[in-house]
Amino acid sequence: MSTKIAFFDAKEYDIESFENANTGDEFEIKFYETKLSEDTVNLAEGYDAVCVFVNDDVNGNVIDKLASYGVKLVALRCAGYNNVDIEHAFGKIHIVRVPAYSPYAVAEHAMALLLTSIRRIHKAYIRTRDFNFSLNGLTGFDLHGKTVGVVGTGKIGRIFIDICTGFGMNVLAYDKFPNKDFGLNYVDLETIWEQSDIISFHCPLTDETKHMVNVSSIEKMKKGVVLINTSRGALIDSEALLEGIKDRKIGAACLDVYEEESDVFFHDFSGHIVADDTLARLISMPNVIVTSHQAFLTREALANIAETTLANIRQFTVDGRCDNELCYKCEKFGGCPQEHKKLCF
Ligand code: NAI
Repeated sequence: MSTKIAFFDAKEYDIESFENANTGDEFEIKFYETKLSEDTVNLAEGYDAVCVFVNDDVNGNVIDKLASYGVKLVALRCAGYNNVDIEHAFGKIHIVRVPAYSPYAVAEHAMALLLTSIRRIHKAYIRTRDFNFSLNGLTGFDLHGKTVGVVGTGKIGRIFIDICTGFGMNVLAYDKFPNKDFGLNYVDLETIWEQSDIISFHCPLTDETKHMVNVSSIEKMKKGVVLINTSRGALIDSEALLEGIKDRKIGAACLDVYEEESDVFFHDFSGHIVADDTLARLISMPNVIVTSHQAFLTREALANIAETTLANIRQFTVDGRCDNELCYKCEKFGGCPQEHKKLCF
């Protein structure tokens, strides 16, 4: 019998990659355009698993409803899981994720944003399309010899560090769980704020990291600092960022994520009035580049996401365990090591 999956927040590219990966009759997937939330959770009734992405809201009430419908599994098709109440889920419903699908995709996008921003490529592109070949206002700076602070030295952070090293930059690293084997120059967060010309964020969103960029940390940063966030929007207090830009303290911001992105990103609002004044103001700044949570979007990453998500569901259904299970208890110790080789509860 096929495993029935209710797939939320389905985009054209998701449908294509999952249909390519789902060649047999092992999985029956119903694609819903809508996001999973308290208002839409009833669509999961009668399914074995739900498949969700970064902006689906898997809060306590949604989890209780899913469990009452007999849904056994929430399969995240992403790495981050700040949108899931994993503490509430413990004992009720199992959560699995795709821990790595293409760290290169995200790290390369971070560097693409940085180069675009500091070499004014986005401005030049628009100018030359209008046959304006003036160079006024397009002066950038060399990355070679600059200091980059990298917050989070996991899979993505380390690849970003390799790229920066290739550019001849000095790398300072910060991680809550530093790994001496990586041979990195680990420093404390204060040093990152004070000494970096560029700061790139590659750590998860947790209670501890929420708004780590705030009025007080911005105050400690170098004038003209460039911030890159391809991790999760709420690492940065957007109002504080806006003030830092208006005060000319922050030289540029490259944002692939935004703390209030869930109602805006992934949708076409051209021709509409966007109600989020902070986002509108940020986008209006000449030194802010926003991409809409696009860093993961490569062919390689989409294929890996589809294959790993279906493999997770298969392992859970067939073997009664999953290497990529997430649980509250294991997470407290810095990630679910799955050393027990069985389900977490
Ligand atoms: P990872 O789990 O390999 O690395 C995360 C690192 O952050 C670990 O080394 C961990 O020790 C560190 N960390 C944990 N708590 C910390 C804290 N309080 N302060 C500093 N560091 C801390 O994760 P990976 O794959 O490198 O992904 C990083 C983040 O990138 C994810 O959490 C996710 O939010 C984001 N992401 C964004 C995507 C996008 O399309 N924009 C796509 C994929 C991931």
